[in-house]
Amino acid sequence: MATTKNRPIEINVESASPEKVKTGVLVVGAFPDGTLLRSSQKIDEASKGKLSAVIKRGDLEEKPGSTLLLHDLPGVEAERVLVVSLGKRDKFDEKAFRDAVSGAAKALASGPARDAAVTLSADVPGRSLAWRAQTASRILADGSYRFDVPGKTAKKERGAHKITLLIGEKASEELKKAVHQGHAVAEGIALAKDLGNLPGNVCNPGYLAETARALGKEFNLEVEILERADMKKLGMGAALSVGQASAQPCKFIVMQYKGGGKSKPIVLVGKGVTFDTGGISLKPGANMDEMKFDMCGAASVFGAMKTVARLKLPINVVALVPAVENMPGGNATRPGDVVTSMSGQTIEILNTDAEGRLALADALTYAERFDPAYVIDIATLTGACVIALGNLTSGLFANDDELAEQLLESGNDTGDRAWLLPMFDEYQDQLKSNFADMSNLGGRPAGSITAACFLKRFADKYKWAHLDIAGTNAISGDAKGATGRPVPLLTEFLIGHAQGRAWGTTERKTPAAA
Ligand code: BES
Ligand code: MN
Ligand code: ZN
Repeated sequence: MATTKNRPIEINVESASPEKVKTGVLVVGAFPDGTLLRSSQKIDEASKGKLSAVIKRGDLEEKPGSTLLLHDLPGVEAERVLVVSLGKRDKFDEKAFRDAVSGAAKALASGPARDAAVTLSADVPGRSLAWRAQTASRILADGSYRFDVPGKTAKKERGAHKITLLIGEKASEELKKAVHQGHAVAEGIALAKDLGNLPGNVCNPGYLAETARALGKEFNLEVEILERADMKKLGMGAALSVGQASAQPCKFIVMQYKGGGKSKPIVLVGKGVTFDTGGISLKPGANMDEMKFDMCGAASVFGAMKTVARLKLPINVVALVPAVENMPGGNATRPGDVVTSMSGQTIEILNTDAEGRLALADALTYAERFDPAYVIDIATLTGACVIALGNLTSGLFANDDELAEQLLESGNDTGDRAWLLPMFDEYQDQLKSNFADMSNLGGRPAGSITAACFLKRFADKYKWAHLDIAGTNAISGDAKGATGRPVPLLTEFLIGHAQGRAWGTTERKTPAAA
């Protein structure tokens, strides 16, 4: 399956003097004010002041991540030197670091050099060298991502496919591990992007099921695909109601990664609506193509599973994906229809476009059988979340404060941030129905919150969190495409659990302070 293959890129870490490294392009960070870092100082000395002279001339822009390509710098072994702006010296922080690496990644991915060496000598306040190495490795590997349209011959290979991170000291095992982790996270991101970017006529419920099978084969996961009849037997009336008018049969995907012995699993639930027309409550036509991204929650779960399996983390993780296509048709759910969920609770479907919560409800009930440590669902659930938080921040809801903190911290550590929103009981009133236990529609006010409150009714048997990624999963406009979010957040959380991390040790900045 195309989606489990990756553009091969190799990332290593080495201790070497940058001016002596023979490579296609040597990447060095620099402050436009002319202050040199340890690595750039060495290059400056070797080139007899050429580097600092260019920077002093004012050619390097202040925006972190902007670049300057220098050829044949005297005294330097590398064919080219890519100078990357680190921004204002007194403002240098983790965001500037990520922006700088992203700038370098972009240049490396499209440039002529086939191999590259990247110096990592700028200290990031409050962050370790291992954090820098993991972050750089992830962003550089992610930078090489390209979506190849199925059926079209792939574009000619360009860009660096072998990247060496340069540090001033001997690379410890911890550091090598950090680099490996960053790379594995990027692989998960790439899978999530691939699945998200595929058109709805390719990536349908059956395709997601096949991808799960392929992933299972490659990484020795236990995979079970429940067919429509199996779902019916389980009583998944809510999930089935979403896909009942589609020519593509519903699938319920279960993947189990077992690396943690007898410990309780972390269950990830991903909304897998492979195309959301809205159903009989049909969506307007403009930009409806973007509803192929409505399975990005599922895609992020696939991506996280791939990273976990690649890293052989000593934990147990279960992935659940209700995969359905929301179509209108003669057999479609009508507004006003009442369905019975697997939990036994009945739902009056007032709007067939509020389908994600229906699919997730049954998956959340199914999750109970795993006796989970935590259940986290990820869903492109509400347009209201985009209005609340825009495209920068995912919405987070949880019935457990500690779990919420850990997820916020994981987002903060990776720059894949989320923000906690409330689920006060009073909001539940908006879901009242005259004809069933609840309706699937909470009205316009607090649309993301009432959607989360709906899910909460199906997640009361365990510690649970919900990530609304409607604003963060994809980009519209010229750069249209899936972002692979929140794979960085999820994998950071899972790696943290695998390493027995002490949560709450890094300071979480509020947006106002950031
Ligand atoms: N998939 C959409 C949510 C969405 C909207 C994701 C925009 C990404 C971008 C979801 O199924 C939906 O249609 N939600 C409705 C809910 C409403 C009918 C209560 C919405 O947000 O309008
Ligand atoms: Mn919808
Ligand atoms: Zn949807």
